[in-house]
Amino acid sequence: MNDRRLIKRVRLQNYKNIAACDVVLERIAVIVGHNGSGKSNFLDGLRFVADSLRSSLDHAMRERGGIDAVRRKSSGHPTHFGICIDFDLGEITGRYGFLIAALRRGGYEVQKEECAVAKKDAIFPSHYYVVERGRYIEGNLKSSPPTIMSDRLYLVALSGFEEFRPVYDALSTMGFYHFNPDAIRKIEPVDPGDILQRDGKNLPSVLHHIEKNHPDFKHRIEQYLESITPGITSVKRHSLGSMETLEFRQRVQGAKHPWKFEAGSMSDGTLRALGVLVALFQGAGKSDSTNRFIGIEEPEIALHPAAARSLVDAIEDASEHTQILMTSHSPDLLEYVPEDSILVAISSEGEGSVEPTRIGPLDVNSLGAIKEHLYHAGELLRMNQLFPEKSDLSMKKMDFFGS
Ligand SMILES: Nc1ncnc2c1ncn2[C@@H]1O[C@H](COP(=O)(O)OP(=O)(O)OP(=O)(O)O)[C@@H](O)[C@H]1O
Ligand SMILES: [Mg+2]
Repeated sequence: MNDRRLIKRVRLQNYKNIAACDVVLERIAVIVGHNGSGKSNFLDGLRFVADSLRSSLDHAMRERGGIDAVRRKSSGHPTHFGICIDFDLGEITGRYGFLIAALRRGGYEVQKEECAVAKKDAIFPSHYYVVERGRYIEGNLKSSPPTIMSDRLYLVALSGFEEFRPVYDALSTMGFYHFNPDAIRKIEPVDPGDILQRDGKNLPSVLHHIEKNHPDFKHRIEQYLESITPGITSVKRHSLGSMETLEFRQRVQGAKHPWKFEAGSMSDGTLRALGVLVALFQGAGKSDSTNRFIGIEEPEIALHPAAARSLVDAIEDASEHTQILMTSHSPDLLEYVPEDSILVAISSEGEGSVEPTRIGPLDVNSLGAIKEHLYHAGELLRMNQLFPEKSDLSMKKMDFFGS
């Protein structure tokens, strides 16, 4: 099987409640942990990268309430936060990361930003750059470097350079989902894009795009949907002039033919399940060979526990072409995903305050209990007995950009 992983490793420093983490991501990754432990914050760290490349650093920061809401609040008053990603684009691999610091006079600056790309299996990077506080420190850009601004990410300015364009394209198109059935029910203007939006409101457009270009994947979405919501036979875009909605067909007892229902009449679980399925399969069959990445918040919300098997089947199927990171509270989902997919976020309470979050794969005890068939992971989650492997990772020990 192809190793379809866009993101191999993620390091975060002082990102919200995560003081430091160094996490290897598999093709499928599920983060579990208590409420408020930092699962969504971990996803948000990656979303921050996509947002700030796609729009701007300023926009990504403002959307989150400014740098003081993004950097970790703690008695040590860290003034900076950092995100570093090891990626694999098939032909090339590499690393991209930045450290952003709050300024005394208000605002922030990019303290350091690095990107290096190498041909697969090469030891040395073929292209790289390092910028610090608005200054070009080193690199081997082929053309003359564009102007550097200390409050912008340089990768955006280099997105037109062929050596860095694939990195920009892959990281800026990572998709992050938190579905909202009410947004999906609304009749929306036709959307020209083929990328699903975060709340799922442009589902009709994206579904139509899949139907036109890859009818086999549209059919697969319908099959999975039927196994989650019995009786659904099909779903398609329903055009209303310049507006659109979804039209489902569902078998109804006594009726000769399936009845039509628009999105406004469908159940929360059905709409959410369709959102998850379209997010999973929107990248299928696309001609470019770039690995893809999506993050989904709690895909099990509003689904019957018995639907977990179908959900995981769809996730496994989609992981052939897309890497998937999820947060979850579902013991049923954990029952079916491979053990090496599970990550645990933990923040313990000590001396009257909450410790920063640790995130890691299952520790030896948790893994042992599962491998010896004493418990499955879902049971251990229910008993609050899933723990991340011990790590002595501290910010001082973390070589942020190094290996
Ligand atoms: N800048 C920050 N510094 C320190 N802690 C923060 C910061 N911003 C948010 N937090 C903490 O992060 C926690 C929320 O984390 P997050 O949303 O990742 O939780 P979660 O694991 O997804 O929980 P749930 O299962 O409820 O969705 C809150 O407890 C909040 O106090
Ligand atoms: Mg959350």
